[in-house]
Amino acid sequence: MSMDRRKFLKLLGVSGAVMALGGALPPIARFVAPNIPKPAAEKPPRAKLVWEDGTPVKASELEVNKAYVFHYPMRDTYSILINVGDENGNPVEIPELEIPLLMQPLGQEPQPPTPEALDAVKAAGRGGVYRIPGGVGPHKSIIAYNAVCQHFACQYPQLTYFPPGQVPPQSFPETRKGSILYCYCHGSVYDPYRGAAVLRGPAQRPLPAIELEWDPATDELYAVNIVGNVITGKFCNTCGKLVGTRVTVKPA
Ligand code: FES
Repeated sequence: MSMDRRKFLKLLGVSGAVMALGGALPPIARFVAPNIPKPAAEKPPRAKLVWEDGTPVKASELEVNKAYVFHYPMRDTYSILINVGDENGNPVEIPELEIPLLMQPLGQEPQPPTPEALDAVKAAGRGGVYRIPGGVGPHKSIIAYNAVCQHFACQYPQLTYFPPGQVPPQSFPETRKGSILYCYCHGSVYDPYRGAAVLRGPAQRPLPAIELEWDPATDELYAVNIVGNVITGKFCNTCGKLVGTRVTVKPA
C-alpha cells in the first residue's frame, strides 16, 4: 500500500470516529444534565376534563384523597389530579403560593417562604420563583401535578399518590404518613399540599403544577397550563405532541 493510500485510510478512520463521537455527544450531555429548567415552547391548550364515556368531569364527582390521571400537557405524559383532603376525608383548601423553583432544604416539611427569603432567591437569580395555582372547585381543594419525576423522569405509575394513612412499601424517615406523591424509582417524595415541593430527594425541584379552572355554573373542570420546572434533558415533559381541547380522566 502506498504511503498516500495509508494516510488517506487513516484520515478516513479518524474522521469517522470524530463524526460518531460528535453524534453521541448531545445525548450524553442530555443524560448527565437532565434537569434544565426551560419554559414550554408552546402554551398548552385549554382542555376540558372528561370521563372515558365523554361526559364532563364535575368537581363534585371527584372523591376526596383519591387520585385520577389524565394526559397533559403532552399526549404521552400523565398528570395526576387529586381532590386533596385531611386524614378524616375533609377537603383541604390549597392556597395560591409563590415559591422558589429550588425548594430546599430536603427532608424538612417545606413552609411557605418568607418575603425576605423570596427576595433573596429573586436577587440571587437561582432558579427563579413561580406561582403555584391554588386549588379549584367548591372547596378549593382540587389540584393537579405533572407526573414526571424531577429526578430522572420516571412517570406515573412509578410516580404515584399515597393518600393519608397509606405509606409506600419502601421505608423512609419522614414523619408524614401518606398524603404524598411518591416515586418508586429512587424514592423521591413530594408534597401535594404545597406545590409538590420536595420532602425527600434525590429530586431537588417541585413537580410542575397544572393550572386548573373550575366553572362554578356547570361544575366542570379545565386544564389550562403547566407552570414550574419542566424537564428538557434525557426525557421531556413538554416535548412531543400537545393534547387537544378534551382530555380523558380515569382513576389512578
Ligand atoms: S426518577 Fe423519581 S426518584 Fe429518581
